[in-house]
Amino acid sequence: MNRIERLIGEMSLAEKLGQLTMTAAGHAVTGPIVAADATEAIKAGTIGNLLNLFGADRVREMQRLAVEESRLGIPLLIGFDVVHGHRTLFPIPLGEAASFDPQLWALTAREAATEAAADGLTMTFAPMLDVSRDARWGRSAEGPGEDPWLGARMAEAKVRGFQDADLCAADALAAVAKHYCAYGAVTAGRDYASVDISERTVHEVHMPPFAAAVAAGVAAVMPAFTDLAGIPMTANGALLTGWLRRRLKFDGVIVSDFNAVGELIRHGIAADLTQAAALALNAGVDIDMMADAYRRGLPTALERGWVSMADIDASVRRVLQLKARLGLFDDPYRRGKTPEAAPVIAARRQLARAAGARAIVMLKNDGILPLAESVRNLAVIGPLADAAAEMRGPWWGAADPEDPVSVLAGLRGMLGELRVPHQPGVEIDGENVAGIAGALELCAQADAILLCVGESAAMSGEAASRAHLGLPGRQRQLAEAVLERARALRKPVIAVLFSGRALIVPWLIERADAVLAAWFPGSEAGNAIADLIMGRLSPSGRTPVSWPCAMGQVPLFYGQRPSGRPGDPMDRFTSKYLDAPDAPLFAFGHGLTYGVFALSDLRVSADRVSENDTVEIRVDVANRGARTAEETVFLFTHDKLASVARPLLELKGFGKIRLNPGQSGTVTIFLDANELCFLGPDLEPVFEPGEVEILVGPCADRSRLLVATIHLVPPCP
Ligand code: NOJ
Repeated sequence: MNRIERLIGEMSLAEKLGQLTMTAAGHAVTGPIVAADATEAIKAGTIGNLLNLFGADRVREMQRLAVEESRLGIPLLIGFDVVHGHRTLFPIPLGEAASFDPQLWALTAREAATEAAADGLTMTFAPMLDVSRDARWGRSAEGPGEDPWLGARMAEAKVRGFQDADLCAADALAAVAKHYCAYGAVTAGRDYASVDISERTVHEVHMPPFAAAVAAGVAAVMPAFTDLAGIPMTANGALLTGWLRRRLKFDGVIVSDFNAVGELIRHGIAADLTQAAALALNAGVDIDMMADAYRRGLPTALERGWVSMADIDASVRRVLQLKARLGLFDDPYRRGKTPEAAPVIAARRQLARAAGARAIVMLKNDGILPLAESVRNLAVIGPLADAAAEMRGPWWGAADPEDPVSVLAGLRGMLGELRVPHQPGVEIDGENVAGIAGALELCAQADAILLCVGESAAMSGEAASRAHLGLPGRQRQLAEAVLERARALRKPVIAVLFSGRALIVPWLIERADAVLAAWFPGSEAGNAIADLIMGRLSPSGRTPVSWPCAMGQVPLFYGQRPSGRPGDPMDRFTSKYLDAPDAPLFAFGHGLTYGVFALSDLRVSADRVSENDTVEIRVDVANRGARTAEETVFLFTHDKLASVARPLLELKGFGKIRLNPGQSGTVTIFLDANELCFLGPDLEPVFEPGEVEILVGPCADRSRLLVATIHLVPPCP
């Protein structure tokens, strides 16, 4: 009998339920703490997993209690939200998505895992894979944006990065794909609200990133807090056991969200903790995070015959198997053994700087950027300029609030203090406008004005939905005053927007000379921004969400299905708004560089394509600008005639090319024809013969895409 079966054979019910319980031991908390002090319970073997504890010494001590003082000596799983870095922060995930760079996604996850493992952690509650098309939802900041294909690529890269080749390595973390599934579709973008969308949308839009994470070997999955059409995900047996385990063949651990098992009572499907625990276990949830429902409820549920010992054992087995895969039985102290060397930490900061720059999207540039090195006086105005802590974004792991480089510090580091005067003007969210006059005074001496505005970090992330997506507080008043003064003085204004979502500020975008969407760039924010503004690097980020021009457009996404009455300005009875454009202000994929790129000569390797073929798609790219830059080229498809109406554009690939001024090259993108399968009328995948458009270009604006056509044919007999 192997070790795990032997242990299960020896365990009391209380010890088994301990392995199915995760409780908070420390710092960061996002909900009520139910299970109080864990120390005695760890020694008694009745708590087997912890969250929110980090620091090599502290972890070691808790692990010691479990391994050396409990009867069976089973090590603990210790998890934390290492979402976009641990102590060193990379850009928020929505920003990282904007880099469209799978290698970078994997690399930052690898570095985050290494740093967190050195702090004793074994599990990260990441990657967050919720596709989000509603900018009101604050958690858009934590995920990959609006596109399922992009989300799937990010899922693979992140799982690879966090877990590396071997989970038992001292620098590997178990990844947790969250929040399964469709959390991003909460009603009206309000966090924790009900989700009620079609089964097709669940599977076409929200499932692909999770399927990709499972295919990449993700160790664990976390169900969403939300219900899907009345069945909370924590009790959704059809999607947890039926789909995730049986259909996708996921054999890892399912860990509930914070107190989500207990919240089944408020959802209105469980009368008490006993019923809640039974519903969750029977649906497939192995670990109860923070509700303490399994320990308190499952003994009674077992007596009543609501759950079986076989199901409890199956969950315990999965948890112990994960602990074994993580190498915890062989050496529970392997993570956090060796402190990291200074050069390793320094190299990570350099990666954070590069990643920060790659995440930033230049939405607009009338030619003022990059600034000349000779700029004598750059007036830096706005409440986000000297706001180091905000640069961390809505979830900051273990990062010190003082640690990030602010915009001001980055620019002063590069240009010297005297050349970079600063006034905040207003607070991020206050009513006090007394500082506006001082800010305006800086404009007269300036060669250019950098306006740093946006949200505070706490205005996105969990429990941070917003109904108004403009600038909070009196920032608009400040920005308008600066724009007006600058126009009178003929001084250029560069706006840098900080946010966990697309902000709806068309007035600012129209009037500023250049606009950068910086999201929250992380530890090296100010240096990354300075690198771009001063032209040390060319911007290369592309927006992973369609950027709205009006609140009424939200939810907004490019992958819409055709209407029977497509919008026509000349025909009233067509699909459009009377008072706003239906197109976004910036299409998905939009982002300028310091190059000027022209695409030509789209070639497709085959005209007739069957399901197992791979099509090679090539397009020439020329840089007609005066600076070296990197262009991103997107591949979309459109299946024009199918048994189920297909979206007008579907992302299926992207490629990048870096070109010097005057240089040309070719981007090649491979398309596996089986990617053109879709869910037929019965929601099963089909490959239907017929014409498919291949559309290639710089963003999801059809008017800017080169088009070719291929014909899907049945395989040769
Ligand atoms: C609640 C969040 O929804 C989840 O993403 C996170 O992992 C847990 N809290 C633990 O912090």
